[in-house]
Amino acid sequence: MALVATVAALLAALGGTVWLAARRFVGPSVRHGGGDSGLMHGKTVLITGANSGLGRATAAELLRLGARVIMGCRDRARAEEAAGQLRRELRQAGGPGPGSDAGEAGELVVRELDLASLRSEEPRLDVLINNAGIFQCPYMKTEDGFEMQFGVNHLGHFLLTNLLLGLLKSSAPSRIVVVSSKLYKYGDINFEDLNSEQSYNKSFCYSRSKLANILFTRELARRLEGTNVTVNVLHPGIVRTNLGRHIHIPLLVKPLFNLVSWAFFKTPVEGAQTSVYLASSPEVEGVSGKYFGDCKEEALLPKAMDESVARKLWDISEVMVGILK
Ligand SMILES: NC(=O)c1ccc[n+]([C@@H]2O[C@H](COP(=O)([O-])OP(=O)(O)OC[C@H]3O[C@@H](n4cnc5c(N)ncnc54)[C@H](OP(=O)(O)O)[C@@H]3O)[C@@H](O)[C@H]2O)c1
Ligand SMILES: *[C@@H]1O[C@H](CO)[C@@H](O)[C@H](O)[C@H]1NC(C)=O
Ligand SMILES: *[C@@H]1O[C@H](CO)[C@@H](O)[C@H](O)[C@H]1NC(C)=O
Repeated sequence: MALVATVAALLAALGGTVWLAARRFVGPSVRHGGGDSGLMHGKTVLITGANSGLGRATAAELLRLGARVIMGCRDRARAEEAAGQLRRELRQAGGPGPGSDAGEAGELVVRELDLASLRSEEPRLDVLINNAGIFQCPYMKTEDGFEMQFGVNHLGHFLLTNLLLGLLKSSAPSRIVVVSSKLYKYGDINFEDLNSEQSYNKSFCYSRSKLANILFTRELARRLEGTNVTVNVLHPGIVRTNLGRHIHIPLLVKPLFNLVSWAFFKTPVEGAQTSVYLASSPEVEGVSGKYFGDCKEEALLPKAMDESVARKLWDISEVMVGILK
């Protein structure tokens, strides 16, 4: 009996190891646009937070598909470093070397998120990817006095998108892609305390900001009907990135956490596939206001589809960022 149990345990361990190794080394099962290196040729894509994690992987993938990728970053040095690495990786992979072969190549451009200059310098914008984000930080306020997660994840992108709408419309057909999270489920838009001055719960505030991303997408889709500018929102799954920078993991637990994340979390390239899909695939041409995971449409909870909350959030956001017409 004991022998049977031991053998079963060993087999299970072996099976698990093989499965993990396969998952780790075979690489992403889906790689969107795999052979079609020209799919995004002639298209300009702006990605926020493109120096790290999902944004960086999304930039690399779209570059491979031939896009001109603008990395919208707040820190020029970090962005230049990431851009240098991406260019090297692409050359090593034998892909089209950006800048070296103007016919095939994607092109990588670094921009500080200076909205005014972006508007005047770029003649066209085919895809905007609202990707930057901050997760469960301690209570902090943005320069403008907004709770940090709501300010960065929702309001910053709300303003950026509105400032770029004219350019997106004149470049139509064009697309907006919004990176949200499944954790939206635990949020609510508590209009009476959007800056969390009465109480702060960092998990709730992250979830609230990600719910706001979805409500924003749905309201914007409604406003953009008939313009040939589409907007969709996604969750990437659980991905190994720098997003956990504000989470303290005790030293003793760290090896276990690293093992679990190595085994079970997606790689950034895997996590980026739905962003790449929504940015580039002919399959989603004309699709707008939808929520996606693993390159497929998914259902939303009723609170994320509440039109009156979406409208109210839009109106209040306009006042907060000061673009009320
Ligand atoms: N990783 C996951 O498991 C997961 C799951 C669900 C959703 N998401 C979402 O995926 C998106 C990308 O996150 P990630 O996982 O790739 O994390 P990450 O590696 O931490 O990357 C986040 C990016 O956002 C930028 N950013 C943060 N605060 C900013 C600010 N105030 N202004 C401008 N840029 C700012 C960061 O820039 P710096 O490097 O300069 O700080 C970085 O480029 C986020 O929206 C996140 O909510 C991630
Ligand atoms: C904080 O918010 C999360 C998600 O909404 C909730 O599950 C948790 O109970 C809250 N924590 C406290 C201390 O209220
Ligand atoms: C949207 O695209 C369709 C098909 O290409 C075109 O017929 C229509 O004029 C476009 N509408 C706008 C507002 O650009």
